[in-house]
Amino acid sequence: MSKSFDVVVIGGGPGGYVAAIRAAQLGLNTACIDENKNAAGKAALGGTCLNVGCIPSKALLESSENYYRINHEFAAHGISVKDAKIDVGQMIARKQKIVDQFTGGIQLLFKKNKVASINGHGRVLKRENEKWQIEITGDNPETIEAQHVIIASGSKPRYLTGITVDNVDVLDNVGALDLKEVPKRLGVIGAGVIGLEMSSVWRRLGAEVTILEAMPAFLGAADEEVAKLAQRIFTKELGLNIQTGVKIGEVLKDKKGIKINYEDAAGAKQVLDCDKLIVAVGRVPNTDNIAAPEVGLRIDGRGFIEVDGHCHTGIPNIWAVGDVVRGPMLAHKASEEGVAVAERIAGQAGHVDFNTVPWVIYTQPEIAWVGKTEQQLKAEGVEYNKGSFPFAANGRAHGMNAAVGFVKMLADAKTDRILGVHIVGPFASELISEAVVAMEFRASSEDIARIVHAHPSLSEVMHEAALAVDKRALHS
Ligand code: FAD
Ligand code: NAI
Repeated sequence: MSKSFDVVVIGGGPGGYVAAIRAAQLGLNTACIDENKNAAGKAALGGTCLNVGCIPSKALLESSENYYRINHEFAAHGISVKDAKIDVGQMIARKQKIVDQFTGGIQLLFKKNKVASINGHGRVLKRENEKWQIEITGDNPETIEAQHVIIASGSKPRYLTGITVDNVDVLDNVGALDLKEVPKRLGVIGAGVIGLEMSSVWRRLGAEVTILEAMPAFLGAADEEVAKLAQRIFTKELGLNIQTGVKIGEVLKDKKGIKINYEDAAGAKQVLDCDKLIVAVGRVPNTDNIAAPEVGLRIDGRGFIEVDGHCHTGIPNIWAVGDVVRGPMLAHKASEEGVAVAERIAGQAGHVDFNTVPWVIYTQPEIAWVGKTEQQLKAEGVEYNKGSFPFAANGRAHGMNAAVGFVKMLADAKTDRILGVHIVGPFASELISEAVVAMEFRASSEDIARIVHAHPSLSEVMHEAALAVDKRALHS
């Protein structure tokens, strides 16, 4: 007799493991299948996010930021440090310790919540007697059955034809998070989120970094004013060489390094020589061998599993969440979808508001936003009022030596309801939460303007931006 569960989750990333925990909390007998193993060959839950994504990248961003501040900012505080050195081995070991601690932590959470954890590759086979059969291959092959299946198989890096990623010289996110030393010359293809975060890490540690981006506009998804200021700071202050509107040609590798042939925005032929190359041109969903053809899972032209607004695939009792379905490839979006699906399976009304999913880019300054950009509102013909306030007029930001950037609030011209908030500046990742809560509660800019914000704090910039919507900012 095969093991039988109420819910089987395929994938143990932030979409899958959170769905499994929530399902178990709701009294459902749950298993989670994940095929990932770490370098030591041990099962490592947490998916891309914990192993080779959000968590390790933020650890390296913190280490490199500390090193950068010692070299570039401490003098302003009257602190002098001679010959600061970076031990890349120690930095990487620290990152790995955090990763191991957190992946191990999920095993503990599974134990606590009585989620059965299975290491192996899961594939939905067929439905018999109202139960789905799931075949598991790997070290301990078996077939288990479940009433409901949640597919949370996540995503993997997209590669470019003709460029072989070996994670030694030509790197994706896995290699970029595990370099043994600071490369002298680092090339990066793609000025997206990974490109900018990884460029920041290695540039702060001393690499010469050139980013080659296909799109003519820098950070096209962000608000234009935010993108413009960020580009200026990243190029002028951090020293990233960012080239937009390029067309990548042949990439050649020999003993001397890597040669990237490309056309610049003016159509002129150029060559970039570098020692290491990061390819960060987006990610593709993991749907290889996820279900037998008879199951009838619908996969769209870009490889995503098709689902409705409730993450249901249209096939009885099969759901899909996270990077493997439409929407932003973000850990918090994956987790909230996982929770909502577990609650729906348990008969509750799980729900995710896709209009209030925050975006954060952990550069310095950080970039964060929620809701609509100004260019989107213009394109949609929505009339809006705008309030913007700079960190340069904020005492706390000055105390931190981080008085760069602004908060911009966009509110409906008629109702004053907040439609979007855009931040480039210190701790934007934390500040954006106030805007998310406000939008979730359908707040107006006046609501934020009337709330007491602690002084001195960075949150006063949000307060002033709200006041500025009504042209009554107090400190500018
Ligand atoms: P994943 O995390 O990809 O997990 C899927 C899991 O399923 C994996 O463990 C995989 O091995 C397993 N799997 C796949 N197929 C099978 C199968 N058939 N059987 C068994 N197991 C299977 N997002 C943020 O919100 N904030 C960040 O700061 C951030 N930083 C990032 C930095 C980097 C460098 C990268 C690459 C990504 C980052 N992301 C960030 C994105 C985030 O990692 C993803 O959005 C998130 O991990 C998606 O979660 P998921 O559960 O859908 O998939
Ligand atoms: P991305 O979509 O953010 O950026 C890819 C960039 O590569 C784009 O600017 C694109 O125009 C460019 N590009 C595509 N093809 C190209 C080509 N042939 N030549 C040159 N440029 C090309 O994808 P990225 O950076 O790989 O990250 C993947 C996803 O992971 C992100 O979209 C995000 O969802 C997630 N992520 C989130 C983070 C966060 O929340 N802080 C951090 C890192 C990743």
